[in-house]
Amino acid sequence: MSFVTLLLGALSVARAAYGKDVFAHWMLDEAYSFVQSDWESDMSTAQSIGIDGFVLNMNANDYETDKLVDAYAAAESLNFKLFMSFDMSYTWSVTDMVNIVSAHASSSAQYLWNGDVLVSTYSGDSGSTATDSFWSGFKSDLASQGITISLAPAFTTYRDPSLASSLLSTYPSIDGFFNWWSWPADVLANLTTDTDVAYHQAISARTGPYIMGVSPWQYKDTSDDQDWVEYSDTLWNYRWQQAIDIQPDIVEIITWNDYGESHYIADVLSNINIGTITYVDGQDHAPWRDVAEYYISWYKNGVQPTITEDKVVFWYRKNPKAAVCTGGTTSAPRNANFPGDSVFALAMVASDATISLDIGSSHAEFSASGNAVTMGSVPFPTEDNQIPYIQIIRNGATVKDGYGSVEVSQSCTDYNFNPFVGIVE
Ligand SMILES: *[C@@H]1O[C@H](CO)[C@@H](O)[C@H](O)[C@H]1NC(C)=O
Repeated sequence: MSFVTLLLGALSVARAAYGKDVFAHWMLDEAYSFVQSDWESDMSTAQSIGIDGFVLNMNANDYETDKLVDAYAAAESLNFKLFMSFDMSYTWSVTDMVNIVSAHASSSAQYLWNGDVLVSTYSGDSGSTATDSFWSGFKSDLASQGITISLAPAFTTYRDPSLASSLLSTYPSIDGFFNWWSWPADVLANLTTDTDVAYHQAISARTGPYIMGVSPWQYKDTSDDQDWVEYSDTLWNYRWQQAIDIQPDIVEIITWNDYGESHYIADVLSNINIGTITYVDGQDHAPWRDVAEYYISWYKNGVQPTITEDKVVFWYRKNPKAAVCTGGTTSAPRNANFPGDSVFALAMVASDATISLDIGSSHAEFSASGNAVTMGSVPFPTEDNQIPYIQIIRNGATVKDGYGSVEVSQSCTDYNFNPFVGIVE
């Protein structure tokens, strides 16, 4: 074996272990007023933190699927990648699904997995699409047009690790798997990687990717029976560390712009359709992208990135969980007692520093290690209407500081468990 062969061998091992791709779940129902330049600016924002592409979550209606033309044109111009995710909680015809995939299959922006068009879903394992024959029919209709797909659905009834082998026996037609479940399941406990380990292992018997969901938060209040919060206080930090540990083929950030479930990391743009979701209004999550950028680099390159600029990203809810809100008809969300009444701070500092957190009479400090991520928190104070104040202190001097953008208040009109996200940089 020559030196060059050895070198190529080593390189291909390295590529197999790393060089992985990061996508973000993009809700097409937010594209209503998007033109191609809106897509381009959104895609550039994502690209600037290392995201390779968007996964287009679509419902079966024309106003969403008509937007695919602009999305693909924008992605082609930016060398950004896209793949389809059919939202199977809506009723789809196979013919429509086939036509949508085939219309864009040859675009240079179409993401391919081992040369095949990657297709994903949200759900699809209940109701009329629950049978393998539905999915094998979808694949063979495309194959008859010369389009081979790799199907990696988020079949959401598969969460229990013990069902991983039954996923494969029930669905001979699936090639990969997307683990949607990136929040604790209605429990006051941190999420483990048990589901990831089991399904990553099981699907490795097939040719498609294991896609791992990574999410910052979950709070939804769109109707009386869609009203919950999941325990997410430190999720955005430890879920990324789990992804680095699990090494999935693809990380899918859940989501880029699902405002209704409060797990958006996109800007709250003026031309999106927030409608009655008042808990999103003015609630910036953009600094969460700074955290993503750090972990994306680590996940893709397999080495912990060097931190050259001091930053503290922090988040907090505007009302303590026991606050009884006076307006509206809704009650407190399911699991309202789970979140901690604290300001959570994630420090990314170039060299060792002390992070000081104040809100009213409540004070906390923690030591942030240089060139690493460290988290701390400070509890909400007893007095009302207080703003957090965060300092990065080194050698006894404040090197950077900043305030939250809104007061923590004990009175409220509507329940709001969506956090504000700020940054000191
Ligand atoms: C979850 O993990 C964080 C550290 O990431 C820890 O501070 C917290 O106490 C854990 N929560 C529970 C409920 O165990």
